[in-house]
Amino acid sequence: EKGTYPHFMLKEIDEQPFVMRKIIQKYQDDNDDIKLDEDIRQAMRECDRVYIIAAGTSYHAGLIGKEFLEKIAEVPTEVHVASEFSYNFPLLSEKPLFVFISQSGETADLRSVLVETNKLGHPALTITNVPGSTLSREADYTLHLHAGPEIAVASTKAYTAQMAVLAILAVDTARAKGLTLGFDPMKELGIVSSAMEALCDQKDVFEQIARDYLSTTRNCFFIGRGLDYYVGLEGALKLKEISYIQAEGFAGGELKHGTIALIEDGTPVIALATQEHVNSSIRSNVQEVVTRGANDCIISLEGLDREGDAFVIPNVHSLLTPLVSVLPLQLISYYAALHRDCDVDKPRNLAKSVTVE
Ligand code: F6R
Repeated sequence: EKGTYPHFMLKEIDEQPFVMRKIIQKYQDDNDDIKLDEDIRQAMRECDRVYIIAAGTSYHAGLIGKEFLEKIAEVPTEVHVASEFSYNFPLLSEKPLFVFISQSGETADLRSVLVETNKLGHPALTITNVPGSTLSREADYTLHLHAGPEIAVASTKAYTAQMAVLAILAVDTARAKGLTLGFDPMKELGIVSSAMEALCDQKDVFEQIARDYLSTTRNCFFIGRGLDYYVGLEGALKLKEISYIQAEGFAGGELKHGTIALIEDGTPVIALATQEHVNSSIRSNVQEVVTRGANDCIISLEGLDREGDAFVIPNVHSLLTPLVSVLPLQLISYYAALHRDCDVDKPRNLAKSVTVE
């Protein structure tokens, strides 16, 4: 039920701090160690490469998951759009592990890949919000997102839950491999939860940003580098699916290779600047578009912020910034859709679970 909320989407955005705490609680044992099925731990340790298969928002979570698995656990990882996988079937490593990421656990494009990999006899892990779902039943292992039912068609809390569970999986694998880590994942996720809460308390800021930048525009661009690029892709998807504004996310460095031709007077460009090593490069990309008339909106991280940034998110671990920096984008999309009189929870042409290929 929506309770006092006007839309499920807003309720589900607000639930994210709570979902983070729930995940910490579900994946932590009494000794503060990570609680994970021993079979999954073994499968992660034994594989020589992870193949993440997903669609839409879950694919965007997969892109972040690849960074976690490679940077934290040193596991080579590829991410594939499910519907393309069969045509662009990669050369598989000797011991592949397939990881299916799906909020609903019912997406047909993923299922057809799972049927194929099961036939080949490769192990599969499903990360889903619905443990009894088809993808969960037909895979060898399941990790539960614990996000609670997600009703709005636009995925919000499932996306942040997917990233949190992927971070925990990466840390667990790193520990199982004997790698030393400089951070405590549960503590860091706790910090993420508090940062999310702080953002949810400032909705008026995002409503104003949506009003200022998006009430009449035809298009909008999201730019970022590294992890911020992937979050920008998700921001663009969210905005287009519920507000019908044509939106595109792209890598800051790719601008000059074509897309910059689309920048006109007043074109909104939302830039994410949460990564220290690319802070000055993304800011020069913003300058490039501003010179061509863009209406820039920079969302940065505390400590990396500069005068004139539209919003500064509280400091969290540099690998976990996507879990927090996506909230402003979710809220901006929500208010843009609202101001444009769109059906926020049930956008046209879309279904919550896509059970056809
Ligand atoms: C976007 C959205 C879709 C889904 C995609 C995959 O907000 O909801 O892009 O993410 O259809 O769905 P699942 O995760 O259920 O496999």
